[in-house]
Amino acid sequence: MSTYRIAPSILSADFARLGEEVKNVVAAGADIIHFDVMDNHYVPNLTIGPLVCEAIRPHVQVPIDVHLMVKPVDRIIPDFAKAGANIISFHPEASEHIDRTLQLIHDQGCKAGLVFNPATPLHYLEHVLDKLDLILIMSVNPGFGGQSFIPQALKKIAAVRQMIDASGREIMLEVDGGIKVENIADVARAGADTFVAGSAIFGKPDYKSVIDAMRSQLAAV
Ligand code: DX5
Ligand code: ZN
Repeated sequence: MSTYRIAPSILSADFARLGEEVKNVVAAGADIIHFDVMDNHYVPNLTIGPLVCEAIRPHVQVPIDVHLMVKPVDRIIPDFAKAGANIISFHPEASEHIDRTLQLIHDQGCKAGLVFNPATPLHYLEHVLDKLDLILIMSVNPGFGGQSFIPQALKKIAAVRQMIDASGREIMLEVDGGIKVENIADVARAGADTFVAGSAIFGKPDYKSVIDAMRSQLAAV
């Protein structure tokens, strides 16, 4: 595994200065901007929508990775595609027709991802692995930043890594929740290649020193 990507979650950014925040975190070495969308229905929190995605789009060249924690999902997907999202992922529990939602994301010209909560079984992958560009394993229950990493996620990451390798397809394996300098190497060893981190980066004064420290942990894996 050679290509690792750091995806800061703007959930922990200063929303009053969001343009500056995303520019700064990309200058500090972020590979992707992770954009958490919560609806106070599928998850007990309410965040940001397509207007905010559109507003930050001109400030960054890196991909915007939209993590939809909303139910239903289909209606909002074209809006995010128009707002400049590059990757759109959703939770299988939030879609009545998972295959159709994946198709809809691709039809809008975006990469498609499926997200697994800590207690969501992986069996969906048997049926849709060939349609995925990204698999996102939640290492916390979705809804809030700043929670602790659930260690059982490591086994799940390893299982997904085997499935991806067996498929021979290029699928990003992203992990979200409680990732920090101290545990990023364990997550990489389990098989992840893309690391979401919100509070670990935006909660600190110097984004570059955190991202550099994460990269040196990853270089030693
Ligand atoms: C949780 C979100 C995460 C969250 C990660 O529902 O999907 O992206 O912002 O935050 P940290 O890194 O603080 O756990
Ligand atoms: Zn997320």
